[in-house]
Amino acid sequence: MAFQRYILVCGGAGCHDNASEGVFRGFIHEIEAKELQSTVQVVKAGCFGFCEKGPVVKILPDEKIYVGVGVDDIRELVSEHVVGGRFVTRLLYDESESKQHVRVDDLDFY
Ligand code: FES
Repeated sequence: MAFQRYILVCGGAGCHDNASEGVFRGFIHEIEAKELQSTVQVVKAGCFGFCEKGPVVKILPDEKIYVGVGVDDIRELVSEHVVGGRFVTRLLYDESESKQHVRVDDLDFY
């Protein structure tokens, strides 16, 4: 059965050390409380590569990545993004951070 949305909660070591297990359980609880379990699946995922910004959560099919997600953010993410389709910008990963802006002047030559 295909779900309308998937909430991927990083279960990698870095995020686990930042209490991602509680975030994972919190999403499951919130989805069940809102009776969304037939349309939304919560999945524990592997490392997304942003370990220092964990806990990291990715919501599909929107391909949006949220960083530094705490249990206090779960209700808002579910009501705003998962139900309302509105991104929670204060938690969104800034994709510009991942792009390397290197100028020749910044390089060290040996
Ligand atoms: S451990 Fe979560 S992003 Fe790497």
